[in-house]
Amino acid sequence: MDRLTRVPGLLYGGDWNPEQWPEEVWAQDVELMAEAGVNLVTVGVFSWARLQPDAHRWDFGWLDRLLDLVHRHGIAVDLATATASPPAWLVRAHPDLLPVTADGVRLEFGSRQHYCPSSPAYRAAAVRLTRRLAERYHGHPALALWHVHNEYGDHVQECFCAGSAADFRRWLRQRHGTVEELNRSWGTAFWSQRYNSFDQVEPPRTAPGPVNPTQLLDWRRFCSDALLALHRAEKAVLDEVSPGVPVTTNFMSMLKALDYWEWSRYEDFVSDDAYPDPADPRAHVNAAMNYDLMRSLKAGRPWLLMEQAPSAVSWRPVNVPKRPDLYRLWSLQALARGADGVLHFQWRASVAGAEKFHSAMLPHRGTAGRGWQRTVALGAELRRLGEVAGSRIRGQVGVLLDWDSWWALELDDHPSARMRWPDLLRPWYAALYERGVTVGFLPPTAGYEGYRLLLAPNLYLLDTATAERLTGYVHGGGHLVCGPFSGITDRHDHIHPGGHPGPLRALLGLVVDEHWPIPDGEATIVRLDGTDRDAEPHPELRAEHWSEWIEPEGAETVARYTSGELAGRPAVTRHRHGTGSAWYLSCHLGPDTGPVLDLALTESGAGPELPGLPEGVEATRRRAADGTAYLFLLNHGPAEARVPLARPGTDLLTGTELLTGTDLLTGTDLHTGSATGTTLTLAPLGAAVLRLPAPEERP
Ligand code: GAL
Repeated sequence: MDRLTRVPGLLYGGDWNPEQWPEEVWAQDVELMAEAGVNLVTVGVFSWARLQPDAHRWDFGWLDRLLDLVHRHGIAVDLATATASPPAWLVRAHPDLLPVTADGVRLEFGSRQHYCPSSPAYRAAAVRLTRRLAERYHGHPALALWHVHNEYGDHVQECFCAGSAADFRRWLRQRHGTVEELNRSWGTAFWSQRYNSFDQVEPPRTAPGPVNPTQLLDWRRFCSDALLALHRAEKAVLDEVSPGVPVTTNFMSMLKALDYWEWSRYEDFVSDDAYPDPADPRAHVNAAMNYDLMRSLKAGRPWLLMEQAPSAVSWRPVNVPKRPDLYRLWSLQALARGADGVLHFQWRASVAGAEKFHSAMLPHRGTAGRGWQRTVALGAELRRLGEVAGSRIRGQVGVLLDWDSWWALELDDHPSARMRWPDLLRPWYAALYERGVTVGFLPPTAGYEGYRLLLAPNLYLLDTATAERLTGYVHGGGHLVCGPFSGITDRHDHIHPGGHPGPLRALLGLVVDEHWPIPDGEATIVRLDGTDRDAEPHPELRAEHWSEWIEPEGAETVARYTSGELAGRPAVTRHRHGTGSAWYLSCHLGPDTGPVLDLALTESGAGPELPGLPEGVEATRRRAADGTAYLFLLNHGPAEARVPLARPGTDLLTGTELLTGTDLLTGTDLHTGSATGTTLTLAPLGAAVLRLPAPEERP
């Protein structure tokens, strides 16, 4: 069984900041944790100043007592290395440890995450603290998991100080070898930017005009690597001193600053912090996308929701609370998409500090109000779902995501500043989500086998080797749908010569004559030609922000522009290669992307998890090693939803057997209408988790 930690079942708990409270309160805390079914607490995330009051003093006594107390109550600990907020004494001893902005402003002490990623003083102190913690607690019976640092890339993602500049130069030397190669890669013949030696190179600080794009791209790569080097330094200590105890750091969903494909190689499992906004009616779609990514980062292994808010956060301009049923639904959604636990920020609400208005599992009002009931109720439900832990999900459609390409796409001085990766990806993902198709994300370097349909909403930066692999995939019978402004540059962000989409030209069977961005507020109409759907009306779609003048070179036209300068020209094409096909969308169709993806879905044979789902219902299927399936059904809609089920099962949340085809709400027998079917009624924001026995084990 694929378990995250030695703790059985699903993990439930949250960040606990006991240093904010007198010890009498701890005793009450652990009693209440046990009552709520908490089995894992994250301790010490911001405890550095308490653990090491100055350069020569350590204070572990309180943590010893705390871990013993927690253990006596049968609760396990996710022990943080406490390195995300260096104490004042360390900062004053090493003022150059504070990060510097691109404008040269040194950020002050008094918040958190105030460290330069390249600072030797910070790194040495962080590693020393990690070692002390590991040496002291590696054998403690409460220890189940190490939590490195906290949210790398939160608040500070880059530093422009002299130390960072030196580190950048070291990194550049390693990447490029010689200054000639750096000049070639950065295209420094342009604007007289040539360097005679690495010593002349600086980070891309604020400059009079546009900065060299490859310098900026290398800077993005370097900044991700610099933070990763810190993480690896702490992880190496934990692996050495505390072998066998898993190590993770909490990711921040789809974060531009960090190449999580690279980062996840150094995680024992992936964990994520997710704060969907209850005020956003589409927040659950975005959350599903992030969760699919988290699951995909380790090829489908279960992951951990390390932080979510029980209700409101405190850092938005307006912090709308979560209704208790929404809280329950969104917690179950993480499980539905492969999480093996639901943890929170935080256990007990703070009374001081910047987060005192942030919701908590144990609110300011204590156990009296709805907040506490919510905490106890979810704990009980997660216990009922314990057997789901370790089961896995398989995505039906692969989506390519490449941080290098993301970074390069969003550099300045492009044909349109509207081409942002999240804006391009979201409508494609939403179209699949609405059709009930589960997505697995892939780095371009992955093996594509196992997916009949691959989507690349954008591959602006694409090296020839990846293009060749994509070509091989399609020649082998795969189906690829590629979005606009793809195949433009190589890994140095130099344009592929000979016409766009460069190395994809033969595969897609077309050449782009000219990019044709659409001004804000305007749209170009696109009409499906209907080659595959003669009997159906041909829908009109709206292209926004982007279109292209393309000339087919073997590709057939699937949709045309019918308005504007490009009227009559191809907008969407398909190039068949044997049984495989390569599709190209030359425009940004936004919310109208779905009808085009429908064509590719039909052609590839990829389909929804559960056909015929009512609107607003999300369905995913987790499978255990023994073949048992867990069908998650989540109703995000405001109305009751009736879900037809082909197979009987047991709702683990209620214990209800659906073997007789009984409508859960009305109690009526539903077999009268259908010999085999069962209908399940989900309340608004309601959910069910059905255990479906392995087919061969069914009576
Ligand atoms: C997270 C962070 C936590 C807490 C939380 C509040 O980003 O890791 O420490 O600040 O946000 O929502």
